[in-house]
Parts: sequence; C-alpha cells; structure tokens
Amino acid sequence: MLKKCLFPVAGYGTRFLPATKAMPKEMLPLVNKPLVQYGVEEAIQAGLTEIGFVTGRGKRAIEDHFDTSFELEHQIAGTGKEHYLDSVRSVISEASFSYTRQGEMRGLGDAILQGQRLIGDEAFAVVLADDLCLNDGDGVLAQMVQLYNQFRCSIVAVDEVPKDQIHKFGVIAGNEIKPGLFQVTDMVEKPAAEDAPSNMAIIGRYILTPDIFDIIRETPPGKNGEVQITDALLAQARKGCVLAYRFKGRRFDCGSVDGFIEATNFVYENIYLSEGEGQK
Ligand code: UTP
Repeated sequence: MLKKCLFPVAGYGTRFLPATKAMPKEMLPLVNKPLVQYGVEEAIQAGLTEIGFVTGRGKRAIEDHFDTSFELEHQIAGTGKEHYLDSVRSVISEASFSYTRQGEMRGLGDAILQGQRLIGDEAFAVVLADDLCLNDGDGVLAQMVQLYNQFRCSIVAVDEVPKDQIHKFGVIAGNEIKPGLFQVTDMVEKPAAEDAPSNMAIIGRYILTPDIFDIIRETPPGKNGEVQITDALLAQARKGCVLAYRFKGRRFDCGSVDGFIEATNFVYENIYLSEGEGQK
C-alpha cells in the first residue's frame, strides 16, 4: 500500500523573484490557497497521507502553513470568518507532515535522495507542487496509484506538449502497452526540439520504487551539474521497468509566470466562484 508522498521544495523559484526572495514559491497563492496545498490535497485524495517535505533555507512558511496557528484560531473562533480555515484544517487533520533539508541545491534527483530519511524502504509518490494538475474525477496521483497497484513499478506522468516547448522538459520514448500507458525505453532531459524522442514530457508527478535511491547515488551529475531524476529513471528503466502514463486532466506550469496566471484565472472562474466564495 502506498502511503507516503514526497514534496521536494528546496528550489529558489528564481523566475518569481522578487516575490520569492523571502517567501517559498510553493506558498504563492492561486486565488486564496497556496500552490503546495493543492498538491497535498491531491496526495490525500490518492490515499497518501504521510507527507514529507525536502526543504531548504527560507521555506519555514510551509511548515507553519501545515501547523495549527493558535493565535489565529483563537482570534476567529466563533466568528463568521472561521470557515476560511476549513480546507487547511481538514488537510492538517487528515495527514502527517515531516521535514528534512537538502543542504545544497544539487538537483531534483539529489533532493529526492535526501527524502530517503523520510521514506525508508518503500515505494512512494513525488509531487512537484509547481505543476498544478486539475480534473473533475480522480486526481493524477489517484490515477497513478491505481496503476502502481497493478504494475508495481516506477511510473512517471507525462503530458503532450508542443514542439517549441519540449526543450523545457524531460522527454520519454516508449512502447504503448495499453492506451495512454507506455513502457519507457528512453528518456532525455531538456532535448532540443529536433532531438526529442517524442512529444511526451515528464511532469511533476512520480511514483518511485525504493531501489531508485541506490540508483540516484550511482548517478553522476548531468545537465547544469545537477543530479537529474530523469537520468536515474532511465537507468531504472534499463534494469527493469518504468512506465509513463498520459494522465487524464489538465496541467498548469505554475513555475512559470504565464502558467501561474493561466492557473489563477482558471481556479478563480472554475473553483473559487463556483464554490460561492466570491459572495462571502
Ligand atoms: P525548478 O527547476 O522548477 O527550480 O525545480 P526552482 O528553483 O523551483 O524554480 P526556478 O527555475 O529557479 O524558477 C523543480 C522542482 O524541484 C525542486 C524545486 O523545489 C521544484 O519543486 N528542486 C530542484 C529541489 O528541491 N532541489 C533542487 O536541488 C532542485
């Protein structure tokens, strides 16, 4: 049974400076809820209630967000404003939260390796909170957990992206074993459009089997001198099996300003207003 979900949140979020100078990128709000809470809610919906964060300097606001604020609770208890805390209260009551630090920014692969202290020797999910995934039915992680229960190997979520965007992603090549599910045969990190093996880009949702930790340890730094999870996953795919899943739903790249604005508008129109929040 999968129950743990790791959130690597040590990145600097330079694309949002100066907003992210003293505040974690993951705390930027989409309307009234920070990005990271959307990710945690998706994990809980998938039954992953042991949440682990790999943090860095300046990320304490994330810990405070998933903790009870006694002063605030006291201030608004019994007032008409109490409902504003409902969603975060229910997240806090349904999940447990633990934290470890990535001492040095050595890449996503290294950040995941630092998370071994929180994960131990079991399969786990990874969420990059700046990829917001929304859909009406089961969230992406819930879809992936169902596949994991069937196939018992590492799974990456992929999204089809236009050719002129492909250089920003890890890209897979694979054999389709059933509609939307591929056995990975190759992976390239941030390829030039003409070298990309497909238009299927890896997005920020993974399920990883625990042998990935030893594989990361053996993975030399790749592009930008960072330890790339894509390189480790390719090694894992060559040893055994890694699946790529074209998920059902819509993804917003909230790590970029354009994607963040698009997601904000979408959440405002389709979630915030429809929940009647605009009238309160
Ligand atoms: P990004 O490439 O989006 O980097 O990392 P970033 O620092 O967050 O944002 P920019 O590019 O400077 O604007 C992808 C994810 O991997 C995590 C980040 O926190 C983000 O969730 N990460 C990356 C780490 O935790 N540690 C690392 O060493 C690198």
